[in-house]
Amino acid sequence: MSWSGAVAAASLWQLRTSARWPLSVYGRGVSVRSCSSGMTLDGLNRAIVDRIIRVDHAGEYGANRIYAGQMAVLGRSSVGPIIQKMWDQEKEHLKKFNELMVAFRARPTVLMPLWNVVGFALGAGTALLGKEGAMACTVAVEESIANHYNNQIRTLMEEEPGKYKELLQVIKKFRDEELEHHDIGLDHDAELAPAYTVLKNIIQAGCSAAIYLSERF
Ligand SMILES: [Fe+2]
Ligand SMILES: [Fe+2]
Repeated sequence: MSWSGAVAAASLWQLRTSARWPLSVYGRGVSVRSCSSGMTLDGLNRAIVDRIIRVDHAGEYGANRIYAGQMAVLGRSSVGPIIQKMWDQEKEHLKKFNELMVAFRARPTVLMPLWNVVGFALGAGTALLGKEGAMACTVAVEESIANHYNNQIRTLMEEEPGKYKELLQVIKKFRDEELEHHDIGLDHDAELAPAYTVLKNIIQAGCSAAIYLSERF
């Protein structure tokens, strides 16, 4: 997909989201209280909040696509229900960031169409190595996301924790659930995947690049 195509797709996605939660319900002033989250827009460091919501939304979307790819390959295997359970939690994570995106008027990354394809390919590709490959992917990605959430928690704590109380609660809860997914991966033989350490390092380098790009674009 071309760059302009990606931008158009992201804009279309935003339009669809806006249609469900019209921005007008939050009024024109920045101090209007949002309906869905109870958080206000006043007095916040908008640059930080925009960046956090955009990248976390992208990350949760990517995680959903990874689990979709894993289920396409391993859905009927013994680990199918375990992967499905983690995917269901990722759906909740994504739903929350969809809501926060509207409440805080943040925009999604223009790279969403790319994460759609790359996420699914990563999930399906590692699942083709067997359940150990899928679980190695889960360990690598979830560790990266948990570290990323910890960095954000530090950033918000340094800003002014009181102002970001609810956002912090969301990020901490999701960080804990990502760590549970990480541990589930380890419990299901992730480390027995072929070339586990190399695979994990490559995937985590990809996660770092995806985080860097999604924060900025
Ligand atoms: Fe998640
Ligand atoms: Fe997760």
